[in-house]
Amino acid sequence: MCGIVGYIGDQEAYPILIKGLHRLEYRGYDSAGVALINNESDLSVYKAKGKVVALEQLCSEKDVSGTIGIAHTRWATHGEPNEVNAHPHFSQSRHLALVHNGIIENYKSLRAELEKNGFTFCSQTDTEVLVQWVEHMQNTHHCDLYTAVQLALKNVVGAYAIAILDKTNPDQLVCARKGSPLIIGVSKNESGRSEFYLGSDATPIIEYTNKVVYLKDEEIAIMDRTGRLDITNLANVKQTPQLCTLQMSLDQLEKGGFPHFMLKEIWEQPNALRTCIRGRLNIVDKDVILSGILDNKDKFINCRRIIICACGTSWHSALIGKYFIEEAAHIPVEVEYASEFRYRNPVIYPDDVVIAVSQSGETADTLAAIQLAKSKGAFLYGICNVIGSSIARATDSGTYLHVGPEIGVASTKAFTGQVITLGLLGLAIAKEKGTLDDKIFHMLVDELQQIPDKMQWTLDHNKDIAHFAQMFTYCKNFIYLGRGYNYPVALEGALKLKEISYIHAEGYPAAEMKHGPIALVDEEMPVVVIAPKRGMYDKVVSNIQEIKSRKGKIISVVTEGDTVVKEMSDYCFVIPDTRDCFVPLLAVIPLQLLSYYVAIAKGRNVDQPRNLAKSVTVE
Ligand code: AGP
Ligand code: GLU
Repeated sequence: MCGIVGYIGDQEAYPILIKGLHRLEYRGYDSAGVALINNESDLSVYKAKGKVVALEQLCSEKDVSGTIGIAHTRWATHGEPNEVNAHPHFSQSRHLALVHNGIIENYKSLRAELEKNGFTFCSQTDTEVLVQWVEHMQNTHHCDLYTAVQLALKNVVGAYAIAILDKTNPDQLVCARKGSPLIIGVSKNESGRSEFYLGSDATPIIEYTNKVVYLKDEEIAIMDRTGRLDITNLANVKQTPQLCTLQMSLDQLEKGGFPHFMLKEIWEQPNALRTCIRGRLNIVDKDVILSGILDNKDKFINCRRIIICACGTSWHSALIGKYFIEEAAHIPVEVEYASEFRYRNPVIYPDDVVIAVSQSGETADTLAAIQLAKSKGAFLYGICNVIGSSIARATDSGTYLHVGPEIGVASTKAFTGQVITLGLLGLAIAKEKGTLDDKIFHMLVDELQQIPDKMQWTLDHNKDIAHFAQMFTYCKNFIYLGRGYNYPVALEGALKLKEISYIHAEGYPAAEMKHGPIALVDEEMPVVVIAPKRGMYDKVVSNIQEIKSRKGKIISVVTEGDTVVKEMSDYCFVIPDTRDCFVPLLAVIPLQLLSYYVAIAKGRNVDQPRNLAKSVTVE
C-alpha cells in the first residue's frame, strides 16, 4: 500500500509532487506516476516503472507546468508492476485522472458492468475500474466530480485512499479514504491564498505546513484555491475538519512515529493481516476464496504430495504450513531448505506440487529450487509479498501476501502473513477435498477472522517486555522450546534474537531437551518456552519442570489466565486463547518484541543488522 501526494495552490505543483514521492520512497514501491493540469486545462499523465528517478527522467522532457496535481508510488496488488499499470489512471474520456492506495475487492463485477456500458480498459488494475466507475457516475447522473466520487464509492467494496483530478474543473482537488491513510496539509501563502497538500502520511507535507487534517474512513474531501475544504461521509453528511498540529520530525514520520521500521512492522501486523485476508475469507458464507487454488484445484486434489521450498523465516512459516495442510487436507507435505533441495538431486514427480515461500520473491536459492522442480514437471505455486517478483513470475500460480512493503531486514509481518496465507491455502484445499467437516471448517474460518484483533490484544498486553528485556543483555545463549505448531515458532523466535541482537539462540522441539541440549541449562541461560493451554500443555509443563530443577531461567508464552506455568516462570508473556493451529500467529509476537528490545538494549542496528541483507539474491 504505497504513496499518494497531491497539491493545489498557486505554486508549480510538479516540484512539490516529485519531492513528495521521494519522501515516500522508504515505503517501498515498484512504479510511480504524476498527473498535472496546466493553465490551458490540459491534463497530462506521466508514469514509469521502477524508481522515482525514472519518472523524473521522463518528466524532464515533458510539459510539467500547472498548479494542481497528484502523484503516486505503486505497490502492485492487481496487475504486474509496469508502466501501463502504474498510476495515475485516466478515465475513458481522459478528463479524469486518479491515484489509489489499497484494493478494490469487487473490481471484477464493476468492470463487467462498465464493459456492458461501453467502457474499455488498458490496464490489469483494480484502480482503473475505479476511475472509470467515477466517470460512469458523472455520465449517468450528470453531476460534478465531488458528487460522482460520493456515488461511486457507495458501490465500492475494499480499501482505498484516492485522489482525483477533473480537467473540466481544474480548480478542484477531490480525495477520499477507507482503510488506507490520507492526510490533508492546510496552508496559506504569503498573499494569504490557500494551498492544500495531500499525503499518505505527513512526510510529503511536513516541510510546507504542520497543520493537517487526518481524513477518516469513508470521508470524501474537496479543496480549492479559495480555501474551501469540505468533507462529507458516504451518506453526504457534512463533517467538520479537525485541524491538528504535527509534532513529529521527518525521520519519525517515515517510521510512523516508531523508532525503527521493525517495531512499526511488528505493530502493523493486525492491519497487515486484515489486508492479507481481505476478500479471501467470507464470514457470511463461512468460505475461503483463493483464486490460485480455485483455478488449479485438480492439481491440489490429485497431487501425490506438496513440497515447500524456502529459506530462513520463510522456512519456519512453511513448517507451520506443513502441520496445518497435513491436518486439514490430508496431503503429505515436505518442507525443504531451498539451498539443500537444489543441490541434492531430489526425487520430484510430475504430480508433485512445489510451493515457494518468499517475502522478497528474489531469494536465489528458492528461485533455483523451483526452477529445478519446474524442469521435472512439477506444478509450481508461489507465496510472495512482492508482486511481479522473480519467484512470483517463475511459478504457475500463487497467492500474494498483501501485507505491504517490509522494510526491516528481520521479517515480522511477512512471517505472520505467510502463516495465515498457508492457513488459507490449507482450508481452500480441504474444502475442495472435503477433508474437513463443515462444523470444523466454519469454526476455523470464524477463528481466523478474529486473529487480527487477537494480535492487537497481544501487542497491547505485553508492553512490559521493553522494560525487562534489559535483564538479558548479558546473556550469551538462549534456548527456545515449543511443541507441535509451536516448534517452528521456537525456531523463528531464536532466529529473530540471533539476527538482530547477535546473541546465540537455538530453537528445539521441547521434548528434545532430554536428548542432549538440557546439558546446557544453568542459571545463566534463559529458556523461552511456548506453553499455550492447547496442544500438549501437560507435556510442556513437565519439560519446564525438568529445566527448573536444573536452575534454568524460564521465559514463557502462556494463554491468558494460565496460573500454572506463570507460577513456574521468571517472566511470562500472555496471548489470548485460540485454536492450536493459529497459536503461532499470536505466540510469535512476544518473541518478536523480546528480540527487538534485547537488541535495542545492546545498541544494535535492528533495521539493518550486520552481515545481513533484506533479500539474499546471491548464493
Ligand atoms: C528473516 O528475518 C531473515 N531476514 C531471513 O531469514 C529471510 O527470511 C530469508 O532470507 C528468506 O527471505 P525471503 O522470504 O525473501 O525469501
Ligand atoms: N491495487 C492498486 C494496484 O494494484 C493499488 C496498489 C497500491 O496500493 O499501490 O495498482
